[in-house]
Amino acid sequence: MVKLLLQFVTWLAETLPLITSLATLTLIFILLAKSIKKYPFVYYTIFALPALLFFARSLFGGEGFFAFSRGGVIGQIMREYVHFSGFSFPLLIIIMFVGALPLSNPYVKRLMMIRKELSIISGFPIIVHIWVRWGMGMSTFEYFFGSGEAAVRGGAGAIYANSAYLLGAAMSVLFLILWITSFDFVHRWLGGVRWKKVQWWSYVLYAMIFTHSILLSVSRLVGGGRGGHGGGGGGRGGREMAQQAGEAVSQAGEAIRHGAEMASRGGGHGGSNITAIIGIISVCLIFGTYLFLRIRKARKDALKKAEK
Ligand code: HEM
Repeated sequence: MVKLLLQFVTWLAETLPLITSLATLTLIFILLAKSIKKYPFVYYTIFALPALLFFARSLFGGEGFFAFSRGGVIGQIMREYVHFSGFSFPLLIIIMFVGALPLSNPYVKRLMMIRKELSIISGFPIIVHIWVRWGMGMSTFEYFFGSGEAAVRGGAGAIYANSAYLLGAAMSVLFLILWITSFDFVHRWLGGVRWKKVQWWSYVLYAMIFTHSILLSVSRLVGGGRGGHGGGGGGRGGREMAQQAGEAVSQAGEAIRHGAEMASRGGGHGGSNITAIIGIISVCLIFGTYLFLRIRKARKDALKKAEK
């Protein structure tokens, strides 16, 4: 009974942050839709500020002038921003679902009006994520194509973690292409047909994000993980790690160390197992629902076209 209660509390703690962020962001963007449409560059600047602060801090060091960005409310905002599940993941989910829900719903319509702007806004924290994690992505080459020593040291879970990082590197390239083509001037330069062809790749990116997330959870489940991923339900455990990683900037060897650490801890157990399972279930639910809604919408659109 106590164990069940404990599991329920863990589930709430892990799930609520993502749901809360998702609900809060959806509400904020519905309320601000008209204003964002009217003054997109004001909002781009506002949402890019934490990224600029982050890069400035990485370049000039976190002490002295930039110390203010570590504590208090600004520190909290920075942590939410850097950590994927606080801001970027819910925002990506909103962007995805807006494309799958019926436009007859007035709230969906409002969000659809600013979908392009939301995609541009999502780019700033994602670029920070890429910057923070790029070293891990690159170090996977040693894991997969090196002498084999790293693979032996890594243990069971490391293969999943390293696959997630390698996939992350490929996702970074695809994401940047999609992000750049979201800007109006690039859209105009490409022309409607070519732009649509490029944007079709966003579905591939969604599938990659799903796999990235599942692999991170599985690595945690198999190897115990180092808290780099707290699951789709929030991933809170990774926040501090993301912060530290960001400060360190250079992360060569990070993926291998992660693998080695997982091996030394052995298989995941207790809380981290529950967190990983929650992560897998939540991500499957989110992406499964999206797939269902998107296919349903595509079918309806095809029927309407055939009727005309
Ligand atoms: C070299 C590139 C990348 C690496 C090594 C990497 C690695 C990681 C790691 C270690 C985490 C867990 C801790 C954290 O939140 O920081 C994570 C989370 C996440 N990453 Fe990446 N990532 C990369 C690029 C990307 C890109 C380009 C995207 C999306 C466009 C992305 C989407 C996500 C998502 C959605 C999560 C949260 C997953 C969850 O909580 O279930 N990543 N990534």
